[in-house]
Amino acid sequence: MNADGPLLLALETSCDDTAAAVLRGGRVLSSVVAGQMEHAAWGGVVPEVASRAHQRAVVPVVQEALRQAGASASDLDAVAATYGPGLAGALLVGLSFAKAYAFGLGVPFVGVNHLEGHLYSAFLADTPPAFPFLTLTVSGGHTMLVLVDEGFRHTVLGRTRDDAAGEAFDKVAKLLGLGYPGGPVVDRLAHDGDPAFIRFPRTRLPGYDFSFSGIKTAVRYTLDPIHAHAPKPDRDALLGKHLPDVAASFQAAVVDMLLDPLERAMHDTGAQAVAVVGGVSANTGLRAAAEALCLKHGATLSIPPLRYCTDNAAMMGLAAQHRLAADGPSPLTLGVAPSLAL
Ligand code: KG4
Ligand code: ZN
Repeated sequence: MNADGPLLLALETSCDDTAAAVLRGGRVLSSVVAGQMEHAAWGGVVPEVASRAHQRAVVPVVQEALRQAGASASDLDAVAATYGPGLAGALLVGLSFAKAYAFGLGVPFVGVNHLEGHLYSAFLADTPPAFPFLTLTVSGGHTMLVLVDEGFRHTVLGRTRDDAAGEAFDKVAKLLGLGYPGGPVVDRLAHDGDPAFIRFPRTRLPGYDFSFSGIKTAVRYTLDPIHAHAPKPDRDALLGKHLPDVAASFQAAVVDMLLDPLERAMHDTGAQAVAVVGGVSANTGLRAAAEALCLKHGATLSIPPLRYCTDNAAMMGLAAQHRLAADGPSPLTLGVAPSLAL
């Protein structure tokens, strides 16, 4: 092992991205992600299609990660992979590959929790947060608010009770006749829209939990009221002339529902640092509002570069190094844990 720390290969295949990264200590030497275009035609991720695509991509992605890092397999000191949460068949590809690779090389294997990876991605921001910090993880599969203390002890303060924030963006985009994934499209449209055009209801739960099923239903009923006596909206006008306004109104509501629990947690915990991670942190409305919120409270805001916000193996590698140092290797009998919690 080199004095700068172990050379580690990390794999991430929990959903629809096949990713591999090579790290030395806390330094990312390479991070390769192969997305799967196969799902667009279906309007969502098809698990079996994802597994097969991972199987095709895993070897070339690992080879490319090693090549970019200037490393060869025999240099590796450890191999890590995400073992949950995620799609069972998709997780199996990366996990089985990593276990076999580690076994073949005679080096330790480490299984990592995908959500822990997202937490660690905060340290890939240009200005990493100081402890203690609050992390808002907002992705296509997860929405949670976590307090991270010195030594990386974390407390989950809140999580979504139904849809994830990204899922709400994608489902509403589908209702509006936009493509998949719809988050970026809604964001672009919202840029030219009036966020006050429709005042969608904001769900506020006790504690710091989130819920996005109500807003989804509200958008749906705005387009197609269920009551016969309800005024019939001009669907063509809403989806034609006012599409940016509907998108902006929806986005404003989601941003409020994400930042309201965050602001209360900032107040209650006294944390002076905030990190926003996960694919939805790309949202320009959320970024602007989070910046304004942190400015108002004199707190710092860390948002990693987009390539480390969406699913990637570099963040899994950081989490793996921490796990390896704290708990040692994982057994090769470790199986996938599709419903693993943080
Ligand atoms: O983190 P990620 O790549 O995958 C998961 O781990 O789930 O996040 C993907 C999600 C999708 O739901 C996508 O629509 C959403 O992030 N997303 C956005 C934006 N860019 C990506 N949502 C809103 N605004 C964006 N600009
Ligand atoms: Zn993720």
